[in-house]
Amino acid sequence: MTEPVRQRIKVLSEQIRQHDYNYHVLDAPTIGDSQYDALMAELLALEADYPDYVRSDSPTQRVGAKPDQGFQEVTHRVPMLSLDNVFDAEEFSQFVARVTDRLDGLTPEWTAEPKLDGLALSIRYEQGNLVQAATRGDGQSGEDVTANVRTIRSIPLRLMADSIPEIVEVRGEVILKKADFDAMNARLLDAGEKTFVNPRNAAAGSLRQLDPTLVAQRPLSFYAYGTGELSQPLAPTHQATMAALKAMGIPVNPGLVVGDAVRIEQAYRDLLEERDQLPYEIDGMVIKVNRLDLQTSLGFVARAPRYASAWKFPAQEAATRIIAIDVQVGRTGAITPVARLEPVFVGGVTVSNATLHNFDEISYLDVRPGDRVMVRRAGDVIPQVVRVLADERTLNLPQVVMPLACPVCASPIERAPGEAVIRCSGGLVCGAQRLEHLKHFVSRKALDIEGVGEKLLELLIAEGLLHSPADLFRLSSEQLVGLDRMAEKSAANVIESIQAARETTLARFLFALGIRDVGEATARTLAQHFQTLDALMAADFDALLEVGDVGPIVASHIQHFFASEENRHVIQDLMDSGVRWTEPEPTERKGPDLSGQTWVLTGTLETMTRDEAAEVLRGLGAKVSGSVSAKTTVVVAGPGAGSKLTKAESLGIQVMDEQGLLEFLK
Ligand code: IVH
Repeated sequence: MTEPVRQRIKVLSEQIRQHDYNYHVLDAPTIGDSQYDALMAELLALEADYPDYVRSDSPTQRVGAKPDQGFQEVTHRVPMLSLDNVFDAEEFSQFVARVTDRLDGLTPEWTAEPKLDGLALSIRYEQGNLVQAATRGDGQSGEDVTANVRTIRSIPLRLMADSIPEIVEVRGEVILKKADFDAMNARLLDAGEKTFVNPRNAAAGSLRQLDPTLVAQRPLSFYAYGTGELSQPLAPTHQATMAALKAMGIPVNPGLVVGDAVRIEQAYRDLLEERDQLPYEIDGMVIKVNRLDLQTSLGFVARAPRYASAWKFPAQEAATRIIAIDVQVGRTGAITPVARLEPVFVGGVTVSNATLHNFDEISYLDVRPGDRVMVRRAGDVIPQVVRVLADERTLNLPQVVMPLACPVCASPIERAPGEAVIRCSGGLVCGAQRLEHLKHFVSRKALDIEGVGEKLLELLIAEGLLHSPADLFRLSSEQLVGLDRMAEKSAANVIESIQAARETTLARFLFALGIRDVGEATARTLAQHFQTLDALMAADFDALLEVGDVGPIVASHIQHFFASEENRHVIQDLMDSGVRWTEPEPTERKGPDLSGQTWVLTGTLETMTRDEAAEVLRGLGAKVSGSVSAKTTVVVAGPGAGSKLTKAESLGIQVMDEQGLLEFLK
């Protein structure tokens, strides 16, 4: 009678294990969350009725009791070493030369993989069962965190393959993915608890929690990068060892590259470029000799192996001091506090300003002028102040107060319900908004007026010559001469380029108007959809929602914009001063129909710029994207193409060069 129950428990456990593997190791789930939950619920119910059948490696048995005497010490049977570092290509070649030299001139094959920024963990399996997990500690001995590690869903409690050595120690890094970190901090903040400063600290703090019930609520991940004690070797190379671990159900560090030193250098540049798009934080790339026998013969120095090195990335965070906190008024009136910093080298550049986003952020961080702070710059994003070094605040520094009036035009400040941003209500009365508005109007992707930059706009506004965009078209070269020491010839050139810019396209015109949330792409879609300005201005809410890309928020911004008397006046004024465009041709595209396709352009093109190529492709109906994914249709790669090309190749996406593109378009 109970045998079918035992059988069902076994089947359910195996199914759940397989789904865990598909999800965490293969990154390819085959069922949805609710189906998974249903399997789990059924297993829990059966186990509740038949407690004798509950096995310690059952998927339901991840959360155990709190260790009563804190964490016990564990001696590592194979020490957990650290890595030597290199910081640039020259140090990398020196490392390669040293190793090659020691191998008597034999040129080894190398592996490269991301250096995950978390904390090292050793997991011991005996007869395929997880029996112990320990932190690195001083490398010789660490803490027994088995109960906590059992709660990490991606770590199997039992290894999967058919034949598994008696002892397998897996070494890897416990991390928190960026999205999980953000969500966790948001939850902690909501609950009025202390948040973590970065994913690494959060992972470390979570793993060292004494109560496994709490650890189970922390979304920790694990990726293996090596082995400790093994009763028999798994494979002859690092690459094959990783594959063997993966086959046993262990999540391994993705993105392993194998090749010669030149390939590894390329991999470093690619990884650096991809860094910000990765789901977790990495602080470099680890390079290892692939053959394990060569690793062994190379041996160790002090606490690091000779066969490996970490090629570190430039730090994305650095400490500096805030000199002052200013506010900036943007094109739409948004008031953004900006920290003026003592210049600091971070993320590869010198930074002297950082955004503080809004005044909620200032009070959340409790940041004050004079504070020492950590500044972060990742990729191309604007540098940010991430936290105050509170211990270093010695003086009583003044708090920042939120302004009640616009610091530029003194108009009252507004704050929409539910929004963190405060705005100047002055509209184009506000000199700052006017300047930003005009800067946008003349910018390259708007009316593209060459020779009219921020400096000249500032002067023209100060002289009272410029209130609204249409005033630009009424300027004479006499008015310009003398401004900022402008000579007659250059004044005439500026006037000429202003006049030339009257000939434009509807998409550019719409973008130039600076409607909130209507960027270049949306402007283009709107122009294509409505064909004429009149049709767009007459469109009601539902008609706007029919446009791809336009949701309720953008639709209401558009309606709001055209409903304003003042904006209608600006538009009329521009038309009266001769701004015009030919309406886009509705049909008859010259070339193949690319609707529904996504194209990516990378590297340098010779007969045209990437922007021009993108324009042509969009004209044929394609979407042009900046990143390669499984949804990409074609990648056009010119000389100098890097990781996007590699990714396209690995995903089996069609790649063409510029010549191929030109022929395709014929
Ligand atoms: S190999 C004997 N590979 O970096 C060499 N380490 O700075 C063992 N780390 O303690 C390390 N990602 O915690 C290796 N792909 C990776 C890694 C990695 C992160 C950590 C590891 C180690 C530290 C050394």
